[in-house]
Amino acid sequence: MNYQVVIPAAGQGKRMNAGKNKQFLEVNEIPLIIHTLRVFENHSLCSGIILVINKMERNEFEELIHKYKITKVKQLVYGGAERQNSVYNGLKACHKENYVLVHDGARPFVSHTSIEELIQATNRTGAATLGVPLKDTIKVVRDGVVSHTLDRSNLWGIQTPQAFELDLILNAHNQAIEEGYLGTDDASLMERTGQAVSIVMGDYINIKITTPEDLIIAESIIKRK
Ligand code: CTP
Ligand code: MG
Repeated sequence: MNYQVVIPAAGQGKRMNAGKNKQFLEVNEIPLIIHTLRVFENHSLCSGIILVINKMERNEFEELIHKYKITKVKQLVYGGAERQNSVYNGLKACHKENYVLVHDGARPFVSHTSIEELIQATNRTGAATLGVPLKDTIKVVRDGVVSHTLDRSNLWGIQTPQAFELDLILNAHNQAIEEGYLGTDDASLMERTGQAVSIVMGDYINIKITTPEDLIIAESIIKRK
């Protein structure tokens, strides 16, 4: 079951506060985006990568892809103002193949086993996401005061990749545009269409590099490997 993957990498990394797109930050001397691209470069089921970038950063991305000999990037597509816009541009550039994955450029540690389990779940239901049961207690806070506490037993932290039948996710994105809905992940768009989204148990190691301390964790994950 081959798949293509859309990798949004067109953000600004504001929470990282590094003064540049965090995709270019080095983790153990290799740029973050290269760690992520290598996962798919080295996965035989991946037929191609659609990398979504900021137009202003095209040269830097092209140089890195060349330097690190990434062969599967079939297209560089330009992103939009929000992640959802970037992913949509990537999805529109996909060739007609049943399964598409959407995976954050800033999430370098997903395993091939997780990807394969995700595809199997998508084969059953049409859409699936990786996630892990939350470890923290989650409270809703308003104006500095706790409003209420959520029942942790049914709360999951959602990761990428998320996998979809291509037609279904394109349809979900089109519907979200019509309704003016902006989500922080693609599964949420799918949920709104009434389509079931399966949850596949991921791995706590599959972190997204978001704030500076995530870089410290990332370095130790790589050293452990
Ligand atoms: N992304 C994108 N286009 C955007 C915004 C985000 O392609 N307009 C990508 C990011 O490059 C990242 C992924 O979506 O790989 C997840 O987003 P996030 O972790 O929020 O990254 P940034 O938006 O870059 O960071 P921040 O929100 O802190 O500015
Ligand atoms: Mg963001």
